[in-house]
Amino acid sequence: MQTYTWKRGDFTVTTDPSGIDLKKAAALIARQDWCCKDRPLDLTVKAIQNSETFFCLAGENREVVGFVRLITDYATAAYVTDVNIAPEYKGRGLSKFIFSCIMEHPVFCKLRRMLLCTPDAHGLYAKYDFKPVAHPEEFMERLIPYDEAYAHFEKNKNA
Ligand SMILES: CC(C)(COP(=O)(O)OP(=O)(O)OC[C@H]1O[C@@H](n2cnc3c(N)ncnc32)[C@H](O)[C@@H]1OP(=O)(O)O)[C@@H](O)C(=O)NCCC(=O)NCCS
Repeated sequence: MQTYTWKRGDFTVTTDPSGIDLKKAAALIARQDWCCKDRPLDLTVKAIQNSETFFCLAGENREVVGFVRLITDYATAAYVTDVNIAPEYKGRGLSKFIFSCIMEHPVFCKLRRMLLCTPDAHGLYAKYDFKPVAHPEEFMERLIPYDEAYAHFEKNKNA
C-alpha cells in the first residue's frame, strides 16, 4: 500500500511506519487511562504492524504523539480503533488532524463501511459523519475477557 503524509505546523500525520519506534507508539496506549492500558506492548506492536496506522509525529525529531489504527481490507470496510493522543498533547486538535487525514486518504475517503466503538467520544467521530448504527440488531460480537485474550496472545505470539 502506498504511504501518505500530511503536515500541519509542527505536526505530521503519516501512514509510513519507517523510522518510527513502534514500541514507543505502543507505549502510548499503556499511558492512557482507558480500557486498553494493560494491553501487552508486543500485542499493540503486532496490531500496529498489521493495520493501516495513521501516526501523528511532533517536531523535527518526529516523536510519536498519537495514532489511530484502521483494520482493513482496503476495499470494503475498515474498523477504526486505538484512537489515542499522548496526554501532554491532548486538546490541540491532533485527533481531528488525524481524522481529517483519514477522510482525505484516497482509499478510506469513500470506503463503503467504517466502524468504531466508543464509550464517550461520539462527538469527535460525529464531526466525520460517524453515526450510531442504524440497525444494531444486525450486528453481533464475540468478546473474550481482556486477561484471557492477553494470556492467549502471550502463549501463542510466536506460533
Ligand atoms: C479522545 C482523544 C483521542 C481526543 O484527542 P485530542 O487530540 O485531545 O482531541 P482534539 O483536540 O482533536 O479535539 C477533539 C474534539 O472532539 C470532541 N470530543 C468529543 N468527545 C470527546 C472525548 N471523549 N474526548 C476528547 N474530545 C472529545 C472535543 O470536544 C473536540 O471538539 P471541539 O474541537 O469541537 O472542541 C484523546 O483525548 C485521547 O487519546 N483519549 C484517551 C483515549 C480515548 O479515549 N480514545 C478514544 C476511545 S474511542
